Amino acid sequence: MANNTSVSQILPVMATYSRFPITLVKGKGSYVWDDRENKYLDFTSGIATCNLGHVPDPVKEKLEEQLQNLWHCSNLYNIPNQEQLAALLTANSCGDQVFFCNSGAEANEAAIKLARRYANKVKGNCSSEVVTFEQSFHGRTLATLTATGQEKIQQGFSPLMPGFSYLPFNDSEALDKLQIIKPAAVLFELVQGEGGVIPANPDWVKKLAQICKENDILLMVDEIQTGIGRSGTLFAYEQYGIEPDVISIAKGLGSGFPIGAIIAKEEAAKGFDPGSHGSTFGGNPLATAAGLATVTHIIESNLLSQVKEISAYLDKQLQGLKAKYTFIKEIRGIGLLKGMVVETNALEIVQKAITKNLLILTAGPNVVRILPPLTVKIAEINEFTEALEKTFLSIEKGE
Ligand SMILES: Cc1ncc(COP(=O)(O)O)c(C=O)c1O
Repeated sequence: MANNTSVSQILPVMATYSRFPITLVKGKGSYVWDDRENKYLDFTSGIATCNLGHVPDPVKEKLEEQLQNLWHCSNLYNIPNQEQLAALLTANSCGDQVFFCNSGAEANEAAIKLARRYANKVKGNCSSEVVTFEQSFHGRTLATLTATGQEKIQQGFSPLMPGFSYLPFNDSEALDKLQIIKPAAVLFELVQGEGGVIPANPDWVKKLAQICKENDILLMVDEIQTGIGRSGTLFAYEQYGIEPDVISIAKGLGSGFPIGAIIAKEEAAKGFDPGSHGSTFGGNPLATAAGLATVTHIIESNLLSQVKEISAYLDKQLQGLKAKYTFIKEIRGIGLLKGMVVETNALEIVQKAITKNLLILTAGPNVVRILPPLTVKIAEINEFTEALEKTFLSIEKGE
């Protein structure tokens, strides 16, 4: 900071985000409030993160308890919350061991490192290439933006990381190339969230899993957006009848408290041994308290059977809107991760919705992304539908 004159011209926060013009200061359940006490229905859930709604009581209580005892200790010591959360995640998935980190990008970074180290140290003498798919999104670190199959995310960051190649998503024939590339691993999303809410075709996923099995390629699913109940099951892969070798998770795991993880099958987990990977904060007592309370609540409250019902209701409402407004071309997605494909500008809809006290998102230029919390009520979905219709009318009138 040179002097007071420059302070008035340069914002102290770097300009990496185009922000909407509201300041949120409070949240509870499906609602948030801004600094002027305006209330909004939040169908973004902090981008698929506040899966239990804002400030959920079971997580708040567990965090408050942990705040009284120990905030942080290094991974050089045993961390009981971490061990319990790992046990819960492995008991409820096809994986056997967990590595904890702090974000989605770090989880995918860990998955990529695990795949390379497994190829180099365990299998030996084989390719350490990782194959990903076009339109995918895997994060913003150098390795994960390289893994991301979108040029706009990679622009300006060359040289990118070596060792990645890309195939078209949902293209069955293209999968045959895997038998020639023989990569160490394939990393993919079961629903491409940022790429436009595009669900993977079940037959394509089965073929991909089969080729990986036959060719000793690690099957790694990025469940950072689809995981922790968002899809209607704890993990979306369960609905596709596959058993991935590595699952990356983050977002919903901590109900808004920063945490990420990979869950790996025993064989793949051999890629890491003491000293091979680590993180100061990864899985610390506070973060894993949030994770433990979140996952315990999801499992014990039987919330996911409710998600299936409420997702069907949301679908019905969205299909109703599609039948009424011709600019809506398609409704797609899984569980409570929905995309509304429009012929018009999705960002304009999202911006106008804020003036109707509704928060929604885009997923590319023509897709409105709808992510209510898993705890959403029927009445709140009705409120959403009304606010969205008001938004459409307001745009139509040119207000
Ligand atoms: C599928 C997927 N992978 C990875 C990431 C990156 O997660 P984070 O922003 O926590 O680094 C995201 C974030 O949107 C995502 O949706």
